[in-house]
Amino acid sequence: VKIIQILILFLCVHFSNFDRKMYHYGTFPEGFSWGISSSAYQIEGGWNADGKGPSIWDTFTQTTDTIPDKANGNVACESYNRLNEDLYMLRALRVKSYRFSLSWSRIFPDGTRKSLNQKGVDYYNRLIDGLIAYNIEPIVTIYHWDLPEALQKVYDWDKAEMIDIFNDYCDFCFATFGDRVKFWITINQPQTIGWSGYGLGNMPPNVKDPGYRPYIVAHNLIKAHAKAYHTYDDKYRQSQGGLISIALNADWAEPKDVSIRREVVAADRAMQFQLGWFAHPIFKNGDYPDALKWQVGNKSEIQGFPQSRLPSFTEEEKNFIKGTADVFCVNHYTTKIVSHITARLSPESYEYDWDFKEEEENDSPTTAIPNQKVVAWGLRRLLNWIKEEYGDPEIYITENGVATEAQTTWDDSDRVFFYKAYIDEALKAYELDGVTVKGYIATSLMDSFEWLNGYKVGFGLHHVDFSNPNRSRTPKYSAHFYYNIIKDNGFPF
Ligand code: NOJ
Repeated sequence: VKIIQILILFLCVHFSNFDRKMYHYGTFPEGFSWGISSSAYQIEGGWNADGKGPSIWDTFTQTTDTIPDKANGNVACESYNRLNEDLYMLRALRVKSYRFSLSWSRIFPDGTRKSLNQKGVDYYNRLIDGLIAYNIEPIVTIYHWDLPEALQKVYDWDKAEMIDIFNDYCDFCFATFGDRVKFWITINQPQTIGWSGYGLGNMPPNVKDPGYRPYIVAHNLIKAHAKAYHTYDDKYRQSQGGLISIALNADWAEPKDVSIRREVVAADRAMQFQLGWFAHPIFKNGDYPDALKWQVGNKSEIQGFPQSRLPSFTEEEKNFIKGTADVFCVNHYTTKIVSHITARLSPESYEYDWDFKEEEENDSPTTAIPNQKVVAWGLRRLLNWIKEEYGDPEIYITENGVATEAQTTWDDSDRVFFYKAYIDEALKAYELDGVTVKGYIATSLMDSFEWLNGYKVGFGLHHVDFSNPNRSRTPKYSAHFYYNIIKDNGFPF
């Protein structure tokens, strides 16, 4: 009887195909870039070490108390002094690539070449050489939000002078590190810089001007990116042979009711306002999407503003901007449910521009950041949308991860579930839908300074003990899980 029972159980499990209904089995292509990420201000510490100049994040965290526990990145994970420990973790994970960022004011304390700080350059040389010795590809973000304070004081991203200044900094990076760095990301999440920095004003430089300033800042960021791209293309590509792109953030926007046309249109508008704002000029035609042109442009005039609030590109600028990315880099975390609303007439409110409203997905698990729910299927839809919208580019998922409470040490099974589900959706997009997914970068290497959340939450695959002067790093369950995914190149049968 026992044997028959076991046999029946086995057959039930086998034929119910339980796991396979949810999960797709298969592997990613040969040479898939499995990576992990960090950024300078979040991990380095050494905020004024060896001649580093202050950045706007140093100033913001040291002079305001809006971040929980008045946290700052003065010490953070101390990666500036613990480079070998970071390299060791990367090596143990067997990642193929490491995405990190350069601190602009560590290299140029006042933001310009005349203040060059050789010790800062040496630090990045050691990091890059260490990665190459371990056969890990450096993926380098040139600017991840920590603008030198000196530049903020004089120029700010709403001044066009910043374009040449940024270009000169990029030029220096290509010349100095480009013999070993073959994958450049000019700017991380320009939409966040524009919107959080100059619209909501909750991130430095804390300008609250949602009606105007984000569009001016974005305009300069796009031109700055394009200029750096051309510098690379004209001066370095032939001798160095690398790739250059920009990392754009995108939630997936799911219509609240797919049977209602205006909800579907509203969701598409949400995609355009977050991703298309930058991707449309760079990957399509050098110009903004129609949704922005209408909502912030024409409609603005109808509503009695003296003129369109959306700056425009000249024909020459459009040609200069179009096509300035070799691959599509997207940072993705969550999905929003979008419905149409009729604008409230208050220039203080973003809904004024957008005519749509975003809500959380009801049925999905929540995380330590309440508005970032785990909605894995959104990643597959997003990847398909990018493929359709931008003509099947090569896509790198340059950030994807989940926050847990910072005290989570080794048992982060929530994060394991997250990675299993999201990576599997990326696999479905690649294998079943034919999306050209070339790489996946988990966020992040270790718990670190999580911007407005301070150290309250962590995205790390490694725990960092911030109460310990050694900042000891311990792998979590997710690190082991990710190691196995990399080893298997996905989910083999
Ligand atoms: C996006 C940012 O690029 C990254 O620095 C940050 O850690 C994650 N969001 C998570 O908040």
